[in-house]
Amino acid sequence: PSNSQDMEDSCGVRRANCRAKGGAPGFKVAILGAAGGIGQPLAMLMKINPLVSVLHLYDVVNSPGVTADISHMDTGAVVRGFLGQAQLESALTGMDLVIIPAGVPRKPGMTRDDLFNINAGIVKTLCEGIAKSCPRAVVNLISNPVNSTVPIAAEVFKKAGTYDPKRLLGVTMLDVVRANTFVAEVLGLDPRDVDVPVVGGHAGVTILPLLSQVKPPSSFTQEEVEYLTNRIQNGGTEVVEAKAGAGSATLSMAYAAVKFADACLRGLRGDAAVVECAFVSSQVTELPFFASKVRLGRNGAEEVFQLGPLNEYERVGLEKAKKELAASIQKGVSFIRK
Ligand code: NAD
Ligand code: LMR
Repeated sequence: PSNSQDMEDSCGVRRANCRAKGGAPGFKVAILGAAGGIGQPLAMLMKINPLVSVLHLYDVVNSPGVTADISHMDTGAVVRGFLGQAQLESALTGMDLVIIPAGVPRKPGMTRDDLFNINAGIVKTLCEGIAKSCPRAVVNLISNPVNSTVPIAAEVFKKAGTYDPKRLLGVTMLDVVRANTFVAEVLGLDPRDVDVPVVGGHAGVTILPLLSQVKPPSSFTQEEVEYLTNRIQNGGTEVVEAKAGAGSATLSMAYAAVKFADACLRGLRGDAAVVECAFVSSQVTELPFFASKVRLGRNGAEEVFQLGPLNEYERVGLEKAKKELAASIQKGVSFIRK
């Protein structure tokens, strides 16, 4: 190689080839919005993930700096940076998994739906890129409002003729992470030992924790049920208010995104019984999209699980959730079909 950039590229190729020859499981992952509040810690955590062999960091600003920084970490993944629309195609070509935390976050007083006007267009553009450059990739969509951006992505892929419902997953993992934390606090348990299914969607009343199905099996007073449901549904707002104008959850979200992406990669590798909650194309209710437990496999969300038995409080919550979700889904679909 004639200069240091060529030398770095050549070493990257040699390292990537070396991993491939050794038969080590290595997936190619792109993060779109990698220089943002979520994107940066997410990129750092994915660089540590042993299942990742190549990590592409794409943003419309600052991705060269983030890439230079992360690329000095002495972990296995080869990191490459991409800046601006002209490099989107190169960022996406060959990717197995694409994680999207691109878009504006909330400020106090806003709902997630207030982000629709800006983020819908961003998600549309990025998904058009995916349809063109890596149509078989599994997509983890984080950008809000998730209840609308997932239907937008589905419509973009349908238009392009590349839609595979199993490969499009809205990330609701942060709701589960919060639910596990808050429920563990109430029960006096280690959060790592607690599993709370959270179904529905990712905004306010559409976030429906199923406290009757908590593992280990637990009972709660009505007061505890109301406190926990309310805190889980408003966890995002709690962070937005505490950050007082400086954005929304980024660190806990990056943690949740990596937990979810890692589950997707283990599924792609062929591990058995990888199950997490996600907002996906669904026949669990009459709505076309719904969050529930899904089994992640070689093709993405290979099985979407039913909700299981609900108590009266959860049945009432489900009706409220479905009403709001139906409107948010329709709004996303209309944005592309209009
Ligand atoms: P941020 O503003 O800190 O970062 C967003 C990044 O996206 C920026 O670096 C920006 O340059 C980039 N970006 C903007 N347009 C882009 C485009 N066309 N292509 C590529 N990148 C682009 O915001 P953040 O705090 O990281 O949040 C990002 C999104 O994630 C927000 O919509 C937020 O509401 C959402 N979010 C979702 C969850 C969830 O649970 N699903 C949790 C937290 C935040
Ligand atoms: C969250 O749940 O933290 C995210 O959806 C960000 C937000 O706006 O609340």
